[in-house]
Amino acid sequence: MDIFRKSFDAFYDIIKPIVFSLTKTDPEKAHELFIGFCRTLHAFKLEGLVLDNSANRLNPGFKISNAAGFNKNGEISPSVLKYLGFDRVVIGTVTYDEWKGNSRPRIRRYHKTESLVNWMGLPGIGAREIAEILYNYGNHRVPLTINLMSTPGKKGDDLLRDLEKTVFALREVPYVNRFELNVSCPNTKDSQGGLDARREYQKQVRAMRKTVRENMLSEQELWEKESPDLNETDIDYLLEDADDLIDGLTLTNSTTRHDSRYIPYSPGKGGASGDAVYESSLKTQRLFYGKIQKSGSKLKIIVCGGIKSPERLQERISFGATEIQVYTPIIFSGTKLLREFRSQSAQSG
Ligand SMILES: Cc1cc2nc3c(=O)[nH]c(=O)nc-3n(C[C@H](O)[C@H](O)[C@H](O)COP(=O)(O)O)c2cc1C
Repeated sequence: MDIFRKSFDAFYDIIKPIVFSLTKTDPEKAHELFIGFCRTLHAFKLEGLVLDNSANRLNPGFKISNAAGFNKNGEISPSVLKYLGFDRVVIGTVTYDEWKGNSRPRIRRYHKTESLVNWMGLPGIGAREIAEILYNYGNHRVPLTINLMSTPGKKGDDLLRDLEKTVFALREVPYVNRFELNVSCPNTKDSQGGLDARREYQKQVRAMRKTVRENMLSEQELWEKESPDLNETDIDYLLEDADDLIDGLTLTNSTTRHDSRYIPYSPGKGGASGDAVYESSLKTQRLFYGKIQKSGSKLKIIVCGGIKSPERLQERISFGATEIQVYTPIIFSGTKLLREFRSQSAQSG
């Protein structure tokens, strides 16, 4: 089995420069190619043969998921992602209505600094269609997280009803045992038309948490995904009654701070990920972790943001993380990174 997977990972390294060069002006096309490949494997039921490998049987002591945005509409089957090395699959961000997002190109790739900037604006096919896709995957046994947010443009009570309808559409789908509220997307417009609605969402965050919690099933968990651009006052506010309403925090989303060391030609909008977010994501995690420990809170932590090596992973684990999510590092390193995370952590742990 390992021979096929090692060949697949080696093939990725060979074709990466070709694909990067062909998709330079619209990097989203590279992801579409990857999705097409995964769908073909699944259609011919070849994922086990091509992707499975012995590292999948190791217990690294933490769980690995893809980060939101990687499988927005559930187009990659959970079984393909399982054999790639993920223990859990995140779908979304799911909005109730179909939403086109911003016009393309809406991703920029910085391969020398292993970073991306995206301003996709939550495109998606809508909660009901996604539920249908997920039902059709059948008995895959992979735990699923639905990352959700209201359809852009919804405010006040409409926003809450939108979240409620998304939860209704997806809560009975087999293996959905978590929701992850995305209050940190840097690419949706506020009511003034500015391209960053995070402050507005923050004001409504308690009502949003309540709406999801009251409508999901009792055995399901609610997590919340935070921005790496928060200050200490924001963090105190978010933690105030968090224990009563959420089970944990995903730290973090992408950053609107475009550090020129990583993002030499900033598009002037969007969230930076990969190497460009690592430091601010770690800093935010440390702030949250310090406050969680001090207050005796039971909140759990998933880490996400530029985790591109087992060393970085260990650093993030040392500040309270029990699970990790990855997206951008997989684009630059390929999925062999998942094998490395599993095998090196299992050896040292
Ligand atoms: C192209 C792209 C699309 C993304 N879409 C979403 C999204 O829909 N919802 C969300 O919560 N995060 C989204 N993210 C943020 C990632 O989930 C993740 O939090 C961030 O990229 C940092 O992790 P990374 O460095 O491993 O990519 C997206 C990231 C990228 C690069």
